[in-house]
Amino acid sequence: MAPHDFGAPAPLRLLLCGSAAGTMPDRPFEPAGGQPLAVVDRRGHEDVGALALAAARCDAAVVVVDTDRSVDDALRRMLQVVRLAGLHNVFLAVDGESSPDLREDLTHIARTLDLFAPASIESARDLWSTLGDELSGASAIGPAADAPFRLLVSDAPSPQAVSGIVIAGTVRIADRIASVETGRASQIAAMDVDGEDRAQAAAGETVTLRLEAPVGTAAGDVLAAAGDRPETCDQFAADLLWIGPEPLLPGRAYRIEIGTRQVPGSVTRIKHRIAGDDAPPVAAGTLRVGDRGRVNLSLAQPVAFEPFARDRALGTFTVVDTASGHAMGVGTIDFALRRAANIHRQAVDVTKAARAAAKAQRPALLWFTGLSGAGKSTIANLVEKRLFALGHHTYLLDGDNVRHGLNRDLGFTAADRVENIRRVAETAKLMVDAGLITLASFISPFRAERQLARDLLTEGEFVEVFVDAPLGVVEARDPKGLYAQARAGRIPNFTGIDSPYEPPAAPELHLETHRRSADELADEVVAYLDRAGFLDAGAD
Ligand code: ADX
Repeated sequence: MAPHDFGAPAPLRLLLCGSAAGTMPDRPFEPAGGQPLAVVDRRGHEDVGALALAAARCDAAVVVVDTDRSVDDALRRMLQVVRLAGLHNVFLAVDGESSPDLREDLTHIARTLDLFAPASIESARDLWSTLGDELSGASAIGPAADAPFRLLVSDAPSPQAVSGIVIAGTVRIADRIASVETGRASQIAAMDVDGEDRAQAAAGETVTLRLEAPVGTAAGDVLAAAGDRPETCDQFAADLLWIGPEPLLPGRAYRIEIGTRQVPGSVTRIKHRIAGDDAPPVAAGTLRVGDRGRVNLSLAQPVAFEPFARDRALGTFTVVDTASGHAMGVGTIDFALRRAANIHRQAVDVTKAARAAAKAQRPALLWFTGLSGAGKSTIANLVEKRLFALGHHTYLLDGDNVRHGLNRDLGFTAADRVENIRRVAETAKLMVDAGLITLASFISPFRAERQLARDLLTEGEFVEVFVDAPLGVVEARDPKGLYAQARAGRIPNFTGIDSPYEPPAAPELHLETHRRSADELADEVVAYLDRAGFLDAGAD
């Protein structure tokens, strides 16, 4: 990008979207008497997270719709995301040759989402002249030109060099800046934009700053004006648009991307679903594709942020499925929740290691997963009996029992199962901390929650035991008569029948209960624990 003349008004930042965005002519545009325009980003509709962040850094968007396209989910989602990211000036452009049906559908969606009526263009080259007048009426939206400096760090090529995109304010040589994450401050010694030395850089520019002293910053961090830094927090109230094919499950671990930072996090609560601008909010246990809701979000570590109303770029986040890497939701931060701010972890003198040593064992969590009737509880019981006979300290958490007490408020919807396993995993973690060899026997049908349980523990402590038997076998066993009832339609959401089971990809132990006896398999588990050193006295 050419250096700005800082005397002239900053150009209106345009986002060009649609599958044809890459081929559209890039013409920084100076309408007579209007303000200058610059295409600062181009996006297709595939990477919704990147689209949201790009939209949050622009003032207006032009969405070019292919002639042969219909108003499908992908297009609708792109428009919703662009609107959620705060853009009011959204212009739809469609080829004049397109079908009347397409134009009618576009007019309708433009009306529902409050976008400008679609304009017909003759050809790609025609785009700017057709939209010229309308575009020149668009105005810049925050952050204001005098907003404090913010830079999303994408790289730290050396201890005293930081690269990234300026998302707010201006930065000049000799300014004092600080890393929000490390708290260390320094002064700008020099900077370059596209290999060219510069005295200052403004919002929208990608810059490499050379610092007088290292500030310990890394990719994902935020650099800010030393005297005016954004806050950090790990819990937020937010507005969330769900775009994932599977519904949002509160409590499930997702990857949250905010700025250039990625952290594990989850939606802890759905306060309500937003039914429409004028409609009253609706209570909701989940959000489905296309739904918007008010939620609470909890992150594994604090991140630099701004409320969306102050800074769209630092106030926008994406919810990403950890397994597929697909964007599942896009949200904006309303405000920080200060829940954990004044609760500090209490340091205790009697440690986990001391408690384990007193019991002459290494604590572990044996996680038995598998279909109902596969034999989880039977084997877990036998293993516990054997460990107990050997003098070990154990505890068995079992689905059927926990669901009568701690989790008696939960049923068998996907959302309730996620919460069931989250609570059990947290409870098991405390038991492992107490030095116990803990056994958990739950269907735990979803990989994501079993991974969450694994991640709560120290490396090596979590032993996943897949208790496996084909559906035909467990259905024939039907120890509690539940499969027969589920087949008769009397138990909805029954695992293996009308609710999925995701088998472990790499369990520590794979026990096939249709091939060997429960006694043999229990011996195998105990032998594994012995080999892995869990049963040794004087563990560290
Ligand atoms: S989990 O899916 O959330 O891990 P959990 O192991 O706690 O399930 O509970 C499973 C037990 O609940 C089964 O052994 C069975 O006795 C009973 N149950 C009742 N309804 C269902 C259902 N819809 N699906 C599976 N198990 C059910």
